[in-house]
Amino acid sequence: MDTKIFRHGEIAQAAAAIKRGELVAFPTETVYGLGADATNEKAVKNVYLAKGRPSDNPLIVHVNSIAMVEKYAAEIPDNARKLMDTFWPGSLTIILKIKKGALSKTVTGGLKTVAFRYPDCQPTLDLIEEAGVPLVGPSANTSGKPSPTTAQHVYHDLHGKIAGIVDNGPTRVGVESTVLDMSTDHPVILRPGAVTKKDIEAVIGSIDLNHHKVGKNETPKAPGMKYKHYAPKAQVYIVDEDTDWDKVVEWIRQQPFDVGMMAEEKVLQQEVLPMNAIQFSLGKNVEDASARLFDGLRQFDDQPNVKAIVTQAFPAHDLGGAYMNRLNKSAGGMHFDSNAVK
Ligand code: TXA
Ligand code: MG
Repeated sequence: MDTKIFRHGEIAQAAAAIKRGELVAFPTETVYGLGADATNEKAVKNVYLAKGRPSDNPLIVHVNSIAMVEKYAAEIPDNARKLMDTFWPGSLTIILKIKKGALSKTVTGGLKTVAFRYPDCQPTLDLIEEAGVPLVGPSANTSGKPSPTTAQHVYHDLHGKIAGIVDNGPTRVGVESTVLDMSTDHPVILRPGAVTKKDIEAVIGSIDLNHHKVGKNETPKAPGMKYKHYAPKAQVYIVDEDTDWDKVVEWIRQQPFDVGMMAEEKVLQQEVLPMNAIQFSLGKNVEDASARLFDGLRQFDDQPNVKAIVTQAFPAHDLGGAYMNRLNKSAGGMHFDSNAVK
């Protein structure tokens, strides 16, 4: 199958493919999603196949109105509606109880709840409008790899497996949406994103962050959390804020292979790098770093001599909470240890 790149002005063609039950990746402000008609069981099944995604990991349903949510949710609690009014369109995904029989088990992974998201990205809102149906949309990467922040990333992972990609250039936020479970009386953040706990609490009062680890055979709150995530081929090491970069650079110099070095511009400028350090700039602040993280991790996958990647940590509050959550997963919790330098 040829994977077509749809540009601006070709949304009608992309929507026609969706209506035929084909898969079309779409941009959002966070990452690219792998789109299919959420009401077409066969199309949704093909999303799992194309990604290599385990079937118990439910999909987010992308909408372009609250009215669309009303068609599929059992009810919209007052607090959920307040959050929709405040943050939609935007990077907050809200989990609600599903209306019985409204969407197939394939969408929800058999759960009695369903996740809704109203992305802040006009081409995709137009696509939903033209197709006339909500779109399922997991991140459009091969399962386990960093999420795609450009159409090229999607093409790299999924070309030949999907009908097309709506290209809207690099995404703005770069880390996936905040996932908030509002299906019980106690709202819980299952995945941190650009809409923070503080932001949410300013609207509905105190909520919880779900941090507990989940074993292989348990049913976790966010099923996606038990799987390996954001992992490039090389081992990633987190460089904590109090670590001396001179030590990191010295360690790189001692390695017999190339090392990816992902750091802020000012760090890259202040260090004298050895030949085997392959630098990737995280820009000037945590916003830049979040937008670039997945791109950097992916670029090193194409460089077989890069066997390790050292990546700068940022303070884990606000957007930094989401950035550090993704970085921790891609590193499998490994931190750079200055004592390892001879
Ligand atoms: O920013 C985003 O959210 C992107 C863009 C494309 O919209 N989408 C995305 O989808 O990141 P995905 O499938 O890669 O991540 C969705 C997460 C998974 O961890 C999944 O387990 C969880 O949300 N999830 C979805 N439905 C759920 C439900 N009903 N209950 C609990 N967790 C759910
Ligand atoms: Mg994903």
